[in-house]
Amino acid sequence: MKFLRLRRTLGLRARVTVAFCIGTFFLAGVMAGVAYALAHNYLLGERESSAKRQAFVDARLVRSELRSPDADVTSFLGTLPSNSESASLVYRRGHWFGSSVLVAPSHLPPDLMNRALAGQAATQRFEQSGTTYLAVAVPLPSVSAVFVQVFSLRELNSTLHILSASLAVAAVVTALAGGLLGAWASRLAVQPLRTVAAAADEIARGNLDTRLQAQDRDLIRLAKAFNAMVDALQARIARDARFASDISHELRSPLTTLSASLAVLERDTSGWRDSQRQALELVKSETASFARLVEDLLEISRVDAGAAETNLEEVFAGEFLCQVAANLCPGVPIDIVGDAGRCVIGVDKRRMERVFANLVQNADRYAGGVVRLGVRRDAHAVRFEVDDAGPGIPPAQRERIFERFARGGHGHRATGTGVGLGLALAWEHVALHRGRIWVEDRPGGGARFVISLPLVGEESDGERVPHAGGAVERVRAGVDRLTRRSHLVGGTRRGDGST
Ligand SMILES: Nc1ncnc2c1ncn2[C@@H]1O[C@H](COP(=O)(O)OP(=O)(O)OP(=O)(O)O)[C@@H](O)[C@H]1O
Ligand SMILES: [Mg+2]
Repeated sequence: MKFLRLRRTLGLRARVTVAFCIGTFFLAGVMAGVAYALAHNYLLGERESSAKRQAFVDARLVRSELRSPDADVTSFLGTLPSNSESASLVYRRGHWFGSSVLVAPSHLPPDLMNRALAGQAATQRFEQSGTTYLAVAVPLPSVSAVFVQVFSLRELNSTLHILSASLAVAAVVTALAGGLLGAWASRLAVQPLRTVAAAADEIARGNLDTRLQAQDRDLIRLAKAFNAMVDALQARIARDARFASDISHELRSPLTTLSASLAVLERDTSGWRDSQRQALELVKSETASFARLVEDLLEISRVDAGAAETNLEEVFAGEFLCQVAANLCPGVPIDIVGDAGRCVIGVDKRRMERVFANLVQNADRYAGGVVRLGVRRDAHAVRFEVDDAGPGIPPAQRERIFERFARGGHGHRATGTGVGLGLALAWEHVALHRGRIWVEDRPGGGARFVISLPLVGEESDGERVPHAGGAVERVRAGVDRLTRRSHLVGGTRRGDGST
């Protein structure tokens, strides 16, 4: 479990780097261990043989001295070549001769002495006060003595310590170098993925013509598969858009005939019974809704097919809102916050009026009518607000209602209300302006539909000051891209303004 959680937390590159680090640390550790063991054995073996050689030479000298009747062993031991790292002792007839500054005779290992007393030369390592010593005992049976030479292994030990520390540092440095190598290798390894991710990103942004160019031999298969997938996707989108558009077109002609026939029938209904007139009214209203549905579908399929044409005009936000209010809901209070009225925006009037018309119609249908129309300025945008005092839209539905054919609890064919295309179309129209539409709570209850359009310029002292060069052109340029993007997002709509 922990491992899986770690896998999820660390990215691929981090995992490869860590794996390289651990792998090289393990290998370097093993090699350092082997190198240390070999060096340890070699140096110790060398030290032991040189100690033995010296002890046997000195033992021979001691034996010659002990053979003379007036031998003074202690003084003779003092003449033997010695230093602070070695000491010589002689055991004879229960007495020890020689003064060792290194170890007292009583601290010599009993096993060593037992073997030497039994006539066998012996070598043994032992610890005394934290220092390791090497003792060589040489039996001298002809003079009934044992010669013992003790060597301190302090120097050898410190050499081995330095060696082990150096090897440990080398292992750590190697592990770090391994980590760097891993980071570099993983960077190279994930490079193709980055390329694919960048291409996928481009496609998601609407550039369906993006394809992968594989220069690398390893990438050829991936690029071929990816490009084939995008080809198929593009073809499918085009086919779907064509299909919806064809159906809508095919429905249009019978609808026109139907409407014309109804108009003819309506001209003279004098001899008709009430029930026949009611039936005619019903057919008329259903035909009108059907015609509107077909028009909406055609509009959407034009956007999907990338054939939506926008006719952007620069207008003052305040003026535009007043016009909309006069056409759609005269008498509704208009709230122009601060200098928002003087902001200039690029709008396709037909499209934006359709958007407002649907919002006003929705407010009438589901929320008792619009109670306020507002416009305020944001950092680089102008926000139009359409407020009602109805039941509001629950947070869970705020994205969904912008999807095609999404109806809340109110909209239902049986009740004669909408089919759920109004807000989806509004979303498309606003996106064509590079704007955003979403719904939020109205302070005091009800829903607030917000349309945010990019700011193009503003009026200052009676003059129109354009904002950062060619904003309308930028909006126009974005239209094409956004149109194509709407293919990809399909039914998914964002109502939170986070497009
Ligand atoms: N102001 C509102 N207050 C409450 N609910 C609303 C409001 N506006 C929209 N809705 C809900 O959102 C749903 C989707 O609205 P939308 O305008 O997309 O479709 P519609 O009005 O049902 O049909 P159409 O607009 O295609 O005739 C509606 O069915 C309704 O439930
Ligand atoms: Mg509607």
